[in-house]
Amino acid sequence: MASNIKKIAVFTSGGDSPGMNAAIRSVVRACAYLQIDCIGIFRGYQGMIEGDFMPMNARSVNNIINKGGTMLKSARCEEFRTKAGRKKAFEQLQANGIDSLVVIGGDGSFTGALKFNEEYGVPFIGIPGTIDNDIFGTRVTVGYDTALNTVVEAIDKIRDTASSHHRLFFVEVMGRDVGHIALNSGIGAGAEEILIPEEDLGLERLLDSLKRSKARGKSSSIVVVAEGDRTTGKNVYELKEFVEENLPIYDVRVCVLGHMQRGGAPTCSDRVLACRMGVKAVESLLEGKSNLMTGIQENEITLTPVIEAIKGKTKLDKELIRISDILTV
Ligand code: ADP
Ligand code: F6P
Repeated sequence: MASNIKKIAVFTSGGDSPGMNAAIRSVVRACAYLQIDCIGIFRGYQGMIEGDFMPMNARSVNNIINKGGTMLKSARCEEFRTKAGRKKAFEQLQANGIDSLVVIGGDGSFTGALKFNEEYGVPFIGIPGTIDNDIFGTRVTVGYDTALNTVVEAIDKIRDTASSHHRLFFVEVMGRDVGHIALNSGIGAGAEEILIPEEDLGLERLLDSLKRSKARGKSSSIVVVAEGDRTTGKNVYELKEFVEENLPIYDVRVCVLGHMQRGGAPTCSDRVLACRMGVKAVESLLEGKSNLMTGIQENEITLTPVIEAIKGKTKLDKELIRISDILTV
């Protein structure tokens, strides 16, 4: 299906992730290459409502491919959740001749775009940008690989001090609802235990495992905990108290890695992914497609209906749990 697309607007929304700049650059340059006007919207839906727009050409995105964060800034916007807010946003798009959107963000941002499309028919393509890797329809999201590497580097450093003092560390990593970062970084950094929302390890098993570690002569231990893990009913600080009470042989510390996981220069893998998805998003709009999200499956760039991306749940590779158990012998 051909389209009448003449002016595409691109924006980043929700939690930022490394590689968003590479995705913006890709969208802007693909538009320049295909001679389509491109507008950058600052601060996501908030900027759309306020008309915070900037015409972009190939040179507007010089030297950003290697930068973390997002040059267009991001925001969470309550007003866009209201009909009145979305009406204002549509009026701004109309006033500026914008006829289609590329939304770089997570499932919340896609839900907003879908609602907007239902109400005003503005075509859009989504690019999944989040460190959590919690979006169905893509093996990985833009920013996930960088975050994993950041976490592994941080845990390596924590291990240095942990082993110098024969300590046990609970390291909390991001992952609001899913354990992808925790499981993969935990294996990559050689953690003794990994607590994730998808798998109930149980407090007794945690104690057994820590006892076994001591008995086997391990001088220090790292337990990686996904922030969204509620399986033990305890947060990292409560886990520290619990282990100190029940296993006084351990000197326990807590490290919450927090937002440093969202920053930093994107890895090559995230940059290439973002470049591929940005081009795909623009080409798809020009082919008359809408309400789809770019993804990657078996090294092919794919399109998934956004409704499925929002509703579907990502699957954790349970084999990795077995691998982790074997390797912490
Ligand atoms: P993410 O895209 O990272 O999941 P959020 O869940 O915070 O981040 O969503 C980003 C923004 O998308 C919200 O601040 C809001 O403006 C918009 N949004 C999310 N859900 C809806 C919804 N149900 N209706 C309209 N807009 C929404
Ligand atoms: O980007 C996803 C995420 O990092 C989650 O893992 C985390 O819960 C959340 O964002 C925190 O975001 P903020 O502090 O921006 O609300």
